Order: sequence, then structure tokens, then C-alpha cells
Amino acid sequence: MIAIDAARLTRRLSELARFGALPGGGVTRSCWGPAYEEARKWLLGEIRAAGLTGWVDGAGNVFGGTGIDSFSADRPAIVTGSHIDTVPEGGTLDGALGVIAGLECLQTIVENKATPRRPLAVAAWSDEEGRYGSLFGSRAFCSGIDPAVIPEMAAVDGEKLVDAMRRAGFDPAGVPQAKAPAGAVAGYVELHIEQGPRLEEAGIEIGVVQAIVGVRRSRIIFHGQADHAGTTPMARRRDAFLGAAEYALRAREHVVTRGSAVSVTNIGVVYVHPGASNIVPGRAEMVHEMRDPDPKVLERLWNECRDLADGVARERQLRVEIRPTSATVPAPCSPNVQAAIETVCAKLGHTTERMYSAAGHDAQNLSAVTEAGMIFIPSVGGKSHRTDETSDPRAIERGANVLLHTLLTLAA
Ligand code: GLV
Ligand code: MN
Ligand code: MN
Repeated sequence: MIAIDAARLTRRLSELARFGALPGGGVTRSCWGPAYEEARKWLLGEIRAAGLTGWVDGAGNVFGGTGIDSFSADRPAIVTGSHIDTVPEGGTLDGALGVIAGLECLQTIVENKATPRRPLAVAAWSDEEGRYGSLFGSRAFCSGIDPAVIPEMAAVDGEKLVDAMRRAGFDPAGVPQAKAPAGAVAGYVELHIEQGPRLEEAGIEIGVVQAIVGVRRSRIIFHGQADHAGTTPMARRRDAFLGAAEYALRAREHVVTRGSAVSVTNIGVVYVHPGASNIVPGRAEMVHEMRDPDPKVLERLWNECRDLADGVARERQLRVEIRPTSATVPAPCSPNVQAAIETVCAKLGHTTERMYSAAGHDAQNLSAVTEAGMIFIPSVGGKSHRTDETSDPRAIERGANVLLHTLLTLAA
């Protein structure tokens, strides 16, 4: 049975980790930023040096192919991939593993002169982490992005997508051209680290993803009154931060007690204005996200938290504004792709478990246009979105070989 070159895979993962590397380990590589653009150039070089065709679409998605140099319904391709952007102070495997392992699989297939019936492509999807909008590149590729919303897309710090794209040498007007023709993708499988503790704790080698969680995000803004922090009597203050703080605690409690057993919630961005120690905060903004694999639970929690925010504002004599910023829908994975992964694992002698993904992934967009699935490998200590994210090198090699044979099965 053919196998990937683990040393080459490790070498490329280490090389990619240099772009945006942080002094204490880990990496910050936001899409369209200087480190990302250097990584993109490096990746295209590796793709071409591996004997694959390489190209970039209008949304900045990078592709490498064998038997293909653009997507067309005449020759539907089997696609793999993930992303090379990271969260701020992120790890070296989230996304990178799926792209580099995908490249390794395609190179192995070419070198072994295995001639699958279908063309194969590896993708590095733009801005998976959603600095400017959730799962941007795969969304542009699968469903298209309405050109009218592109000028409005911005990061939480206010930086506009169009400015970031232009600085990176891209024309935002080209984004709609990234939409793939219907029928151009015959199947999709993505390798990713689990990013949680379940596989490691159960002693299972490979996770077979059944469904991917939905994520809803909104910007919640409490408006109060800025005042002198020394002279304003406590009883007269309309402190916007206290509204935000109370909402944060109550929303967490609500999701934990009224959500499903797997509902989760997080407030990871908070700004207080004007932001001086001697001014009572006049405005407090947060980005609140909620996740659940069941769209009905997510919808209910979303509505209940909106009522909660209204209640907190009323009680504290504040005004609250709620702006939905993104909503990805929970996505089922293809039973055929799950079965293909399990058959491969049985042949290679790996233990498997079906599981849902509590992290969002590009595969959820692909699942709307083709049969899509995901392969998970254990994360050491279940840690991810932190600089010490890692996986055992043997788990990485195992996952890449499972990806290789799953791609060969789907392309046969
Ligand atoms: C992707 O990393 C996510 O936020 O789930
Ligand atoms: Mn991530
Ligand atoms: Mn990821």
C-alpha cells in the first residue's frame, strides 16, 4: 500500500510555522496580512515544486491540482484542504495540517503514478478563522458572496476586508468570480486536529466526523452615560460596562442550564469606551458567540439571550443594540465519506469513533455542494487556539495516510 512521506510532511509543517511565528512558540497569521502573504507565496512554490498545478482564485483561495488547473463541471474533482490562516496567538496545526497533508497526499499520488479516475485538488481556503467574516474563502467558492456586502465586511478592530485585500494585492471585485461552477466538486474530505479532548481521553486514533457545529455571533453594545469617575455619585451612574458584565455572566448561566448538553458560549472580544480609568464607561461592546449542533437549539438560545440583554439594559437604565454578525448552520457530513474513512481505517488497523465537530470548518460549506467529510486526529491535552497546540507525530502520519487512501477511494 502506498504511503505518504512523513519526513517531508513534518518539514513542510515546520517551514509553514515560521510565517508569523511568535517568540515563545505558536503563530499569529491573519488572512491577507504580511505573514499570510509570505506563507501563500511559499505554499504556491511548494505546490509547483511538488509537480502539481498551482493557482489562486478571486477570493484568495490557493489550489494545487493533479489533472486540473481550474474547476469545471466537465471534470469534477475530489478536493481536500483546510486553511493556513490562524487565530491571534494560535497554534501550528489548526488548518495547516489539512493543507500540508493534502499537498503531501497529492504529491504521493503523482510520484507513485497512481492514476485515479478523477482529478484531485488541495485547497488553502481564505480566512477560515473569520477575521473579516466566517469561513470566507470556502463560502465564496461554494455559495458565492454577495458583492454588496463585501464593502461592509470588517474585523472586530474595524479594519475593512477591502483594505486588507487591496494591501495584499487582491481586487475585492474579483471575489464573486471565486464561485465554483455547479457540479465541479465530486467530493471533499478534510483532515484536521480534533482541537478538543475526546479522542485522546477515549484512546481512539481517528475521529470520523458526523456533523459540524453551527456558530452564531453577534455584536452586543450597551449604551450608558460617560461621566466623571470621581465626582458622579454611584447611584447616578449608568455604567455600560456593568451591563455588559452582567449580561456575560447571565448569558453563560443561561446557555449552560437551558441549552443542550453540548451547547457552548463565549465572549472573546470586549471594548469599553472611551476607555479611561477616570471615566464611567459610556459604551461597552462585546462579540458574543454560541454553538450547538442542533439548529433549533441554537435559534432558541439566540432568542432567549436577546431577551436577556433587553432585561439587563432595562434594569440598569441602559440601551442595548444587538447586531448579528455571522451565522453558520450546523452541517451533516456525508454517510458515504464517513463509510469510506472507516473502511480505510479498518484496512490500516486504526481505531475510529464517530463524533461531531465542536469547531467550525470549511467542510461545512463544502457539504452544501458535495459529499463532504472530515478526519480528526487527537490533540495533545485537547488544546487548540493557543500557542502550545500540538499532536503526536505518529498521529499526524496516521491521519495523513488515512486522508491519502480516502482520497484514492473517492477518486477511484
Ligand atoms: C474555528 O476555528 C472555530 O472557531 O471553530
Ligand atoms: Mn481555528
Ligand atoms: Mn481550523
